[in-house]
Amino acid sequence: MLKITDQPPHPLIAASVLSADFGKVASDCQAVLAQGVDLLHVDVMDGHFAPNLTMGQDMIRGLRKHMPSTYLDVHLMVQKPADYLESFAAAGANMFVFHLEVCQPDEIGPLLDQIHDTGMDAGIAINPTTEAQELEPWLDQLEMVLIMSVWPGRSGQKFMSEVVDKAHWLKPRLPSSTRLEMDGGLNAQTAPLVVKAGVDVLVSGSALFGAQDRAKVIKQLHEAGS
Ligand code: DX5
Ligand code: ZN
Repeated sequence: MLKITDQPPHPLIAASVLSADFGKVASDCQAVLAQGVDLLHVDVMDGHFAPNLTMGQDMIRGLRKHMPSTYLDVHLMVQKPADYLESFAAAGANMFVFHLEVCQPDEIGPLLDQIHDTGMDAGIAINPTTEAQELEPWLDQLEMVLIMSVWPGRSGQKFMSEVVDKAHWLKPRLPSSTRLEMDGGLNAQTAPLVVKAGVDVLVSGSALFGAQDRAKVIKQLHEAGS
């Protein structure tokens, strides 16, 4: 199992399950993992925070059953993340990432403690227009910060380059054990820019699962910025 707090030798690739073929999710994910993908990114949407319904605890449990040693990074685009804490931990999630926009500041510290009490790693995500500075009070309590480079909702959207400055600001302020993840519109063209800004976990959905030559995309993303 990947230890997310270890500094990776190259940017990690988190394959976004949302772009897999839902008729054969496990085998599609196993195929990209066998080709070198480092972890899976599971996009949970509740139809309120993001205008889509995707997957929940049953999908996490299914992925865990078929991929017992794969790190599962769960991205909750939901209004009430705390409601899913126990069930996602029991289903086998490794990383629980909630959105800053759905929490009152005084709720965040206790929620991070609760996540850690379940044994999961904790992350906070920010939307394209949320300032990175708003995360400052919690930076030393996180295993991951997730910068959205598209609006939550679906795969295949265009990368928003204006969010890259947030990585420049965050990277020197994060402990070496905290990963910096970017999510949305990443591919061989956009990844080098974000890796140079300090991002070390690249979420990849449509660019990876939609590629004719997935091995080539994996190599390009692993080598992005070097
Ligand atoms: C968007 C999701 C992303 C998405 C990424 O709401 O959070 O994880 O699946 O897909 P691509 O790489 O196609 O932008
Ligand atoms: Zn995501």
